[in-house]
Parts: sequence; structure tokens; C-alpha cells
Amino acid sequence: MDTVVRTKVKDLLKSEAGQVVLAKGWVRTKRGNKGVAFIALNDGSTINNIQIVVDKTAFPEELLAKITTGACIGVTGDLVESLGGGQAVEIQAKSIELYGECDPMRYPIQKKDITMEYLRTVAHMRMRTNTFGAVLRIRNQMAFAIHQYFHNKGFVYLNTPLITESDCEGAGQMFQVTTLDLTQPLPKTKKGDIDYSGDFFGKQTSLTVSGQLEGELGATALGEIYTFGPTFRAENSNTPRHLAEFWMIEPEMAFYDIVDNMNLAEDFIKSLVKYALDNCYDDIKFLNDKYDPELLERLQGVIGTEFVRLEYTEGIKILEEAIANGTKFEYPVYWGVDLQSEHERYLVEKHFQKPVILTGYPKDIKAFYMKQDENGKTVRAMDVLFPKIGEIIGGSEREASLEKLEARITELGMSRKNLEWYIDTRRFGSCPHSGFGLGFERLLLFVTGMSNIRDVIPFPRTPKNAEY
Ligand code: 4AD
Ligand code: MG
Repeated sequence: MDTVVRTKVKDLLKSEAGQVVLAKGWVRTKRGNKGVAFIALNDGSTINNIQIVVDKTAFPEELLAKITTGACIGVTGDLVESLGGGQAVEIQAKSIELYGECDPMRYPIQKKDITMEYLRTVAHMRMRTNTFGAVLRIRNQMAFAIHQYFHNKGFVYLNTPLITESDCEGAGQMFQVTTLDLTQPLPKTKKGDIDYSGDFFGKQTSLTVSGQLEGELGATALGEIYTFGPTFRAENSNTPRHLAEFWMIEPEMAFYDIVDNMNLAEDFIKSLVKYALDNCYDDIKFLNDKYDPELLERLQGVIGTEFVRLEYTEGIKILEEAIANGTKFEYPVYWGVDLQSEHERYLVEKHFQKPVILTGYPKDIKAFYMKQDENGKTVRAMDVLFPKIGEIIGGSEREASLEKLEARITELGMSRKNLEWYIDTRRFGSCPHSGFGLGFERLLLFVTGMSNIRDVIPFPRTPKNAEY
């Protein structure tokens, strides 16, 4: 066994018959009749299994009995052309090494038709299933595609801090980071506030909700940057589209206006979807056939479609007309309202039946840094809305005027203390610039067709859930 080098299943399936090979992996299934056993072996390199054909008379019965679903084995044998359909080659076993048994009575993912809900309760094992293997391979490919996309465009990958003193979105959904002893009464200042001078950083800090503000520092120096890292939101949203810890990609570009920003966002998503179809076809096909028969069609559709570009005000008119014509929404619709997922999905799925980039939002429902329009009412925000998902990207042109930015910060009653460094970008060589954030898991929901965001990240963090 030692002389043969292990080949991954993915490569074995593309290899020529007529050689001795060594495969290692986990048993997916074992079936057989009196004389022969067929083992489907998977090593995670591909959704496809290699079939091992075992002449039962050539192996001890005790060994074969231990080769059950989930067991880990190494098999040396002849790679031969397969007689059965479904695979080009298979291995005729000469020797089998059992690395690890797997008690069929206790193996938590033994059963065939287990639900996604159940798998979330055994998330430490679910990566062994076909579904999660496929999803996580796609996730990996998408991460690579994102870096490649920006690398090819000359963007600089900028690492922004995870621990921060500022609240980028100003929505107060931050997880506090502290080394203060919470078992003791908290130290107080003379004014009665909590005294952070003895805390690790000597000030109040949190986990970041977005790397954008630091990203703007990068863009106004390096030209074009992007971040790609974890972000944290303590919003108590128990929905299939929210995580408390999610990954975000945030490009930020000097000299881009809102139209350049929209063009980049549209091209970016289309390129990623195309990359997925070109490089993850087997995994996507598997998910298509198992869960979502329109997945492939939907992905192909997005590549070939021009996204609709629509003003918020027009969007509200469409929704009001829909209501007049009998459509029922749970939440009210009027100019100034923050759109709910049901509204976004109506526009995308019912009205236009393609992705929509909504712009020109009321300034009162958007963050302080967005460029204010002449009318004093709207800002140059853009949200990219997708079928089945709703908002997949949020972004804007940034307010480049020092006066306007300062006025907005004051108007919103925000503390300037932690933002002076940010305002410096407008004080010193301010420039028009824009950027956006793509939620990585929202993208993966779209690409994999999964219906719950907890199933496109290996270890989801949601309210009341931080296992592992
Ligand atoms: O719209 P958001 O809050 O925008 C920002 O954070 C900006 N600072 C981005 C920028 O302009 N650089 O978030 C951006 C995207 C959303 O469109 C959504 O895809 C995703 O991040 N997102 C979430 N994904 C999963 N779980 C959550 N709780 C999310 N919140 C936002
Ligand atoms: Mg948003």
C-alpha cells in the first residue's frame, strides 16, 4: 500500500483506467449481493463518489462488517472501466485499510432523508453530507473569484479592523468588546457614566458592523480598495436572511459616482455568477436537482439580464399601484418608508422579474455618510435587490463636502469624538467617491439556491445560537 500515492477522488474520476491507485475517504453507502460489495467513497474533493468494487471472498468478514456509512477507509486497487452506468471508472479493491469505524447506531447523519433543520443541530457533522460539501465548495470558489475579480481590476485588498470605536451604520447594533470584570460593579466616572479608562483599550469598543469608514481612508489614498472579512450585527432578526456574524465584501473607489458604482456592482455580481457556473457546475447541478429545479436557469438568467435601475420614488408608486389593484402587504407603503423584504421582492419577482437597483432613497432612512441630493430630501444610495433574497448589496456615493457631512452628523446627534479621523478625508484633499457592501452569505443564498442563510456558512451565529 505504501508504494502507491493517494489520488483525490476528483482526479481519479478523470483518470485513465489500467493503473493501480490508492483512494482515501469516507464511505457514503455500501450495498451488495452475496459475492460482491459496492462502496461509494467520497473524500470531499467533489460531489461525485468513486465506486469501490469488493470481492467479498477476498476480505475477512469482520473487516467488511465494519465498513459502514461514515467509516473512513483507504483502498488500493485497479482502476478499471466501470460496467455500471453513472461512472466512467471504478476501483477493484486489492487491499483495504480501515482508518476509523463509524457506529451506525450513533452516527448522527446516518439516515438518508434528513431535514436541514435537523442538520443545524448537528452542524459539527453536517459538512460530511453531499449538500454541505457542495455548498462549502461553492463558498470557497466564490471567495477566490471575488479576490480574483478585484485583483484583475487593480483594487487593493485592505484589511480593516474588526475591533473598532465607531459605528459605521449608526444603527446601534454593535457587540461590545470589553475586558472589564462583569462580575463586579462597573467603574463609573464623576458624571456617572461607565469609566472605560481601565478597559483593555482605554475606551468603549465594539465588533465592527462594516469596514466602510476605514475603507474610505484606503480609497482616498490608494484609489480603489476592497475589504473582505467578517462583520457583526447584534440585530435581533430571526429571519432566513440575517446572521449576527456574516462576511462582507466592501469595495470603495475614488472618483466613482453613483452610476459608476452601479455599473461595478452589476458587473461584479454577474462575473461571480458566471464564475460559479463555469467552475462549480457539478455542485450547482446537484443542488438544482435535489432542492431547486430552477436554480441553473435563474443563475443563467442573471448573467444575461440587464438589471433594472429605478428611483425609490418610482418604486413607491409601483407598490402603491399594486395595493390599489388588490395586492396585500403586511407593512405599510408610503414615500419615506424603509422598504420591507416583501416590498423588495414584489418589485423584483412580480413586477420586473429581474434584479433591480433602487436609488435615490429618502435621506432619513439611510446612513449619515451618503451624498445628499440637491433636493435636500434624497441621497445617492443604491440597493441591489435580487429574486428570492431581497437586498443583496447596499451602497452609495459618499458625501464629499466637508460642510454637508458635518451638518448631517450634527443633525443626527452623532458623537463626533470618534469620527474626527473620518472627517479628515473631507478636510484634506476630499474627492468624489463611492462604494458598496455585498453580503457574502446573501450571494451564496442566490448561487446555491439554499433557502436559509444558516445553511451557507459553516458555523452560523444567530440570536441564542453560538455553538462551536
Ligand atoms: O446595507 P448594509 O448595512 O451596508 C453597509 O454596511 C455599508 N457600510 C456597505 C458599504 O457601502 N460599504 O450591508 C451591506 C450588505 C447588505 O446588502 C446585505 O447583503 C448584507 O450586507 N447584510 C447582511 N447579511 C447577513 N446578515 C445580516 N444581518 C446582514 N446585514 C447586512
Ligand atoms: Mg442595507
